[in-house]
Amino acid sequence: MGKIFKFKELDFRFKRGINMKRVTAKAPVNIALIKYWGKRDNVNITPYNSSISITLDNLYTVTTIEESNEFSFYLNGKKQTKEESQRVLLFLQNFASIDEISKINVFSTNYVPTAAGLASSASGFAALAVAANEYFNTQLEFKRLAAVTRMGSGSACRSLLGGFVAWNKTGEVYEITSPIKDLVLISVMIEEKQKPISSRKAMEITVNTSPLFPFWTIITNRDFIDMKHAIVSGQYELIGELTEKSARLMHATMLAANPPILYMKDDSIVIWDLIQRLRSRGVYAYITMDAGPNVKILTKSSHQINILEELKNLGFNTSVVSRIGEGARIING
Ligand code: PMV
Repeated sequence: MGKIFKFKELDFRFKRGINMKRVTAKAPVNIALIKYWGKRDNVNITPYNSSISITLDNLYTVTTIEESNEFSFYLNGKKQTKEESQRVLLFLQNFASIDEISKINVFSTNYVPTAAGLASSASGFAALAVAANEYFNTQLEFKRLAAVTRMGSGSACRSLLGGFVAWNKTGEVYEITSPIKDLVLISVMIEEKQKPISSRKAMEITVNTSPLFPFWTIITNRDFIDMKHAIVSGQYELIGELTEKSARLMHATMLAANPPILYMKDDSIVIWDLIQRLRSRGVYAYITMDAGPNVKILTKSSHQINILEELKNLGFNTSVVSRIGEGARIING
C-alpha cells in the first residue's frame, strides 16, 4: 500500500552506474474470486483449497535488482532495516547463494494508490521472484517459480499470470481461458491502517480452531470447479454469485474461529448492503473482501458509473477502478 511513485523518482539512483548489471520486473495485484484460506503445509505453502483470481491491469509493483557492494532493500524509496529486509533476504535464497545476494540492491515500488486500500505483498513477491530469476540467471521453470513465489506470500503465485488465474490445491498455477472481457473491479478504501492481524496468523487460527473450517474446504473446492466452468462458458451472473459466496464463507469461517477474526468494519457492511440493494434493482454488482475491511466490487463497465455515484452518495469518494490485466514480466534487463 502506498502513494504512487513516478518512474522519474527512481531514475536518479540508477544514474550512478550506467554499465551496472540491472534487471527490472513488474507484477500486478490479483484479487481472488474464489479465496485461498488455510495452509496445509506451512513450509511449502500448499493450500487446503484451490483458488481463482483476476489479475488487475493498473495496480502493480515494480522491482529492480542491481549490482552493489552490499545488500540493501528499498521499499517505496525508503531503505529498510535489517529486520524489515529479512523476509526478502530469505526469499532470495531460493534463487542465489548468500554471497551473490550480498552484492545487490533491491528497489521495490508499489504503484497501488492509497485509495485502493490494497495490500501489495502478492505483487511484491511476484515481481521479486521474476526479477531474481532473471538477474541471477536461475532459470527456474514456471512450475518451480510458482512454488517458490508462493513461499513469499501464498497468493503471489497467482500474480505471475494474467486474466483469470487458478491455483490448484495440488500446486498447479494456470490461466483459465474465457470469453469474458468486460469485468471491472472497484476497490473502495475503508481504512488505510495495517491489518490488526496478518493473514498468515489469521489463517493458522482459523485452521486450528474454526468449527466451520472443514465445511469451508469442502464447499470451496466444489465452488472452484463451478467457477472454472462459469469462467470458461462466460456466465457473468454465476461468476458474481460464486465470488460473493466465497467472500461470505471465508469471513464467516474466520468469525467462528477462537479468538474470532473480524476484518469487517461498519463501513464494509454499509457497502455490502448497498450492493445487495443495487443488485435487486438489476445492477451487476458483487462484493468481495480479503484480510482487511476494504471492499472490492465486481461489476461491468456499463454499471460502473452508477455504482461510483451510489458510493459517493454514501460518502465513499475515492475508489479505484481496475480491469483485467497481464501477468508478471521483465520490463528491462
Ligand atoms: O497471500 P496471503 O498469504 O497474504 O493470503 C491471501 C489471502 C486472501 O487475500 C484473503 C485470499 C486470496 O486468495 O487472495
